[in-house]
Amino acid sequence: MTSLRRPNSTDAAGESAASSVDLSVDVAPGNRRHLRLANPVMIASGTFGYDGYGRGMPQDGSLARLGAIIPKTVTRQPREGNPEPRWYPASFREGRAAGETTFLNSIGLANPGIEAALAQLAPQWARYGTTVVLSLSGESAAQFGEMAALAQGAPGFQALELNLSCPNIENGAHFSHDPKLAAAAVAAVRANSDLPLLVKLSPNVPDITVIARAVVSAGADALTLSNTIPAMKIDLGARRPVLGAVTGGLSGPGLKPVAMALVYRTVQAVDVPVIGVGGIFTAADALEYLMAGATAVQVGSATLADPRASFTILDGIRDYLSTHGIASVREVVGAAQVKTRK
Ligand SMILES: Cc1cc2nc3c(=O)[nH]c(=O)nc-3n(C[C@H](O)[C@H](O)[C@H](O)COP(=O)(O)O)c2cc1C
Repeated sequence: MTSLRRPNSTDAAGESAASSVDLSVDVAPGNRRHLRLANPVMIASGTFGYDGYGRGMPQDGSLARLGAIIPKTVTRQPREGNPEPRWYPASFREGRAAGETTFLNSIGLANPGIEAALAQLAPQWARYGTTVVLSLSGESAAQFGEMAALAQGAPGFQALELNLSCPNIENGAHFSHDPKLAAAAVAAVRANSDLPLLVKLSPNVPDITVIARAVVSAGADALTLSNTIPAMKIDLGARRPVLGAVTGGLSGPGLKPVAMALVYRTVQAVDVPVIGVGGIFTAADALEYLMAGATAVQVGSATLADPRASFTILDGIRDYLSTHGIASVREVVGAAQVKTRK
């Protein structure tokens, strides 16, 4: 991995060239409210601090530099989550997992429930000074619709992201594996909300374009690709799986080439923006996703390993563009798409 860092931050001419780069992106151009972000770097749901709701993240105002923040998914009722251990490696939880290549989690969507989130958490989100996206997950299409109705008009966020793909719920339906179920959830939300609507999909399906087309037809303004891959690891000494729930979601570097291929294919299949997420640790990783066709990116595991990772990535994207004389980040989006589908 090439690390793209600010070449010389004391160079005044370089600074002014970098600051003149247009980083803004619209991730929901089809929605009448639009969702214009100051730049394409977002923090992925579930990784905004070790509690998913900002704990351990910088509180010095620097979060305002980011394109958007997506707090952890909320469900209709509070959830306690899966049995411990929920993290591999354990140090991942404390942001000390730099250098690792395998990240597994089985948090099980531990969250306070939508009503507590709207009443107690969301009113605080304006202080971040950037766009906030509310992530929702339901157990039926009707429940998705009910949650969208509860969220409509509430303060603190400017868009919704539907988590159709969490592999850790034991009893909920897996919407993102079935185009009809996925479309029904999106349609139920669309009927009750006019907010820009991102829909986050699962990577482990035979043909992502089938699901992608179904949710776009049902009203998705953008797609997020992707969530984690079901995976496991054995502790040889203990002769047991490392996670309490046995399997969990693989995130980090191992996910990157998988999610990038999904982004690439999906961009060819639908006319809405696609947001890339999976193993983005450096600006080079983010730029690969943009060139594959992603309009924006989300930084997940890297945020847990280093709460400031997304700032370094943003600076590196800006430097790359200014070094190459590229006026707008939108010019690199899809630059690596080849015309003939293989
Ligand atoms: C600890 C942890 C918790 C997560 N929780 C959620 C969640 O609540 N909702 C969601 O949509 N994705 C969740 N994810 C998935 C991430 O948002 C992201 O899609 C995935 O980790 C891949 O990106 P990464 O390789 O940059 O981590 C979680 C990931 C991790 C590592």
